[in-house]
Amino acid sequence: MAYRVRFVNPQRAYQLIKPEIDAAYFDVMTNGELIDRRHLQAFEENLARFVGTRYAVGLNSGYDALHMSLRAAGIGPGDEVIVPAHTFVATCSAVVNVGATPVLVDVTKDFNIDCDLIEDAITPRTNGIIPVHLSGWMADMPRVMEIAAAHRLVVVEDACQSLGSSINGKRAGAWGLTGCWSFYPFKILGGYGDGGAITTDDPKVALFARRMRFNGEDRDSGEYHGHGFTCLLDNLQAAFLDVKLRHLPAWIVRRKQIAERYRKGLCDLPDLLLPHYSRAGFEHVYQNYTVRSKQGSEFSEYLKTHGVEVLTQFRKPYYRHEGLRLEDRGFPETEALSREVCSLPMFPEFEDGEVEYVMDVVRAFYGKCTSPAS
Ligand SMILES: Cc1ncc(COP(=O)(O)O)c(C=O)c1O
Repeated sequence: MAYRVRFVNPQRAYQLIKPEIDAAYFDVMTNGELIDRRHLQAFEENLARFVGTRYAVGLNSGYDALHMSLRAAGIGPGDEVIVPAHTFVATCSAVVNVGATPVLVDVTKDFNIDCDLIEDAITPRTNGIIPVHLSGWMADMPRVMEIAAAHRLVVVEDACQSLGSSINGKRAGAWGLTGCWSFYPFKILGGYGDGGAITTDDPKVALFARRMRFNGEDRDSGEYHGHGFTCLLDNLQAAFLDVKLRHLPAWIVRRKQIAERYRKGLCDLPDLLLPHYSRAGFEHVYQNYTVRSKQGSEFSEYLKTHGVEVLTQFRKPYYRHEGLRLEDRGFPETEALSREVCSLPMFPEFEDGEVEYVMDVVRAFYGKCTSPAS
C-alpha cells in the first residue's frame, strides 16, 4: 500500500546531507580506500569520543558486536547468560552461537529488563548479562552494574537501539565490558547497508576484536592469533557514518521535539501508553516512539489502512518461535506488550504536518476527532 507517512524516510535524509555524503563517497572511491583505511579509523575515534570510551572497533553488524563481545569475555559452553525476554532475537542468538545458554528474564513497562527478576535467574553457571537498551531508552544500568558486581557477571550492553542515550550523563555503551552497536539503516545512526561496532575501555578486548574481525590476523605482523571471522566495518560505510555522526546531536534534539509533540497530542487517551517515563537522570533519544495500545492489532491495522506506516515489533515473542528451541518460562509483561506494541513514525526529517496527521489518525481511532482524510 502507498503510505502517506512512512515509518522512516532514508531518501529524505540523504537529500538533506547529500553534499557531505557525496563528498565522502568520492573521497573513498577516488582514493580506492576500501578496507581498514583512514575513514574507518576516524569513525572509530569519533564514535569512542561520542560514547565516552577509550576504544571503538568497527564490525559488520550489531550481531557481530554481541558475538565478538561474548567471545572476548571468554563466554562459551557451560555458561549461562541472562537476556531480556523482549528484544531483537540477535541478542539471544549471539549467546546460543557461542555455545552458552541464554536465560530469559521478563521486562518492565519501559520494555527493558526487570532488575527485580535478575537475581532469581542467576545460578552458579551464570557468567554474563546482556541488558538491552530498547528504542533509545536505557535499562537501569546502575542496578544492573550493582547486581553484576555482586555476582561477578560480565556485562555486555546491547545498545544497538540507543546511541546517544544516557543515565546521569554517562552514555549507553560506556557501562559494561562492551557496548554493542548496530548501524542497520533504520537505526538512529544508520548506514547504507549493514554495519556495527563495539565500544570498550578495555585494551585487550579492543585488540581481540581488531584481530578477530580480520580472521584472527594481526595486520601489522601477519600473525594469526586464533580462528576468527570476516566481520570488518567497510571503510565506505564508515565514511558515511562519520558524516552522519556529526549530525546526530542535532537529530536527537529533533527526535525529542517530535516525541514531545506526540506526548502533548496523545496523552489524554487512556488506552494508549506513551513512552515517557519519569526517571531522574535518564535521557531518552527516541530511536523509536513505541506506544502500547490496548486495542493491539486493531489499532496498528487502522493506522496502516489510513496511510501511516507503523512497526509492531514483536507480536510474537522470539522465545515462542519453535525453531529457536528456547524455553518459555512465562513472561507476563513481554506477553502483554507483544499484543499491544506499536511504533509510530519517528525520524528527524519528519515534518510537523506529518506528525499532526499521525496524531489525527490515532485520535480518530479512539473517536476523539473526525476521521482523517484517507
Ligand atoms: C536490540 C538489537 N540488538 C541487536 C541487533 C542486531 O543488529 P544487526 O541487525 O546490525 O545485526 C539489533 C538490530 O536490529 C537490535 O535492535
